Amino acid sequence: MYSVKLNNNRDFPVLGVGTLFATKEGEAEQLVKDAIDIGYRHFDTAMVYRNEKEVGAGIKAKISEGVVKREDIFLTTKLWCTYHRREKVVEACKTSLSNLGLEYIDLYLIHSPSAFKEGDDFWPKDSDGKLMIEYVDYVETWKGMEECVKLGLTKSIGISNFNSQQIDRLLKAATIKPAANQIECHPYLNQAKLIAFCKEKGIIITAYSPLGSPNAIAKETTQAPLQDPKLQELAKKYNKTVAQIILRYLIQHGTVPIPKSSNKKRLQENFDIFDFEISKEDKNAIDALNKNIRICLFTGTEEDKNYPFGIEY
Ligand SMILES: NC(=O)c1ccc[n+]([C@@H]2O[C@H](COP(=O)([O-])OP(=O)(O)OC[C@H]3O[C@@H](n4cnc5c(N)ncnc54)[C@H](OP(=O)(O)O)[C@@H]3O)[C@@H](O)[C@H]2O)c1
Ligand SMILES: *[C@@H]1O[C@H](CO)[C@@H](O)[C@H](O)[C@H]1NC(C)=O
Repeated sequence: MYSVKLNNNRDFPVLGVGTLFATKEGEAEQLVKDAIDIGYRHFDTAMVYRNEKEVGAGIKAKISEGVVKREDIFLTTKLWCTYHRREKVVEACKTSLSNLGLEYIDLYLIHSPSAFKEGDDFWPKDSDGKLMIEYVDYVETWKGMEECVKLGLTKSIGISNFNSQQIDRLLKAATIKPAANQIECHPYLNQAKLIAFCKEKGIIITAYSPLGSPNAIAKETTQAPLQDPKLQELAKKYNKTVAQIILRYLIQHGTVPIPKSSNKKRLQENFDIFDFEISKEDKNAIDALNKNIRICLFTGTEEDKNYPFGIEY
């Protein structure tokens, strides 16, 4: 598996597998096992996905079978918004590790710059059904993240859904620089400016919802990139599927896509993108499809001081 170097010199496989909504019993474990058999070595989960246990079980099953060693796998999980106070970060990280049944995480991310009211409820709501935001400075959260590295709980730390201003502010206070920023990125939201900004700071971009999250988040959008006529035309030209064109594009665009699939055939399809290259001209044509359409909105956090999507990038 091809990889890029993170700013701490660790290898980051250029294609991973997402696990959001893989919550049917056995689904995430099977997905991980199938993916490892296909050749994937990079997995993305989060405490809030409620499948860390299964993701860990899938990895451990393949380690016991002798197919991979722990060090061959790159596992990302994320700190949820109800654990942003500095003192809560290490606790949450240890809970994730215990869910996973692993000794370390490869990359631990702050899931979002917004913090919610602490407690057992991942989406705490008041009596009017309104999401309960509880401001915590993400710089404070970051100190807890750094503590996780010092304790050996995770090899690398990073952020998700952070904008350029937040990254700038974080970098001024950080002892350990964030290795990656995981953001929504696909042909309809190609994030060219944030990618360039992060590149300059030595921060790798992980592209989430790379296919536009067709079945889950974007259920009601008709604007799915998989249906785009230009991408369909390119798929014909390269004798590839639209999904393969998109994923190949995202890698050439300088990001690390993490498409989710619970279907072994589609997992294989998404993996078969290393035997062709999109020409510069066609890459430019895909760049031109950008519409700044955001699918993952973190609805209910718009009023938060840390809401990341209120500025251009
Ligand atoms: N940090 C964050 O805030 C954040 C937010 C959203 C997502 N993420 C991460 O990013 C990962 C990917 O994003 P996502 O799951 O939202 O969306 P996505 O990967 O863009 O799309 C996943 C959907 O596409 C379908 N699919 C997969 N491969 C396909 C193919 N070759 N052709 C047609 N359909 C295909 C899957 O269905 P099947 O399973 O049936 O194949 C699934 O429903 C997540 O799983 C999660 O790990 C992070
Ligand atoms: C197109 O791709 C399919 C599937 O990978 C392959 O079987 C077929 O031979 C390819 N056709 C051409 C013309 O390359």
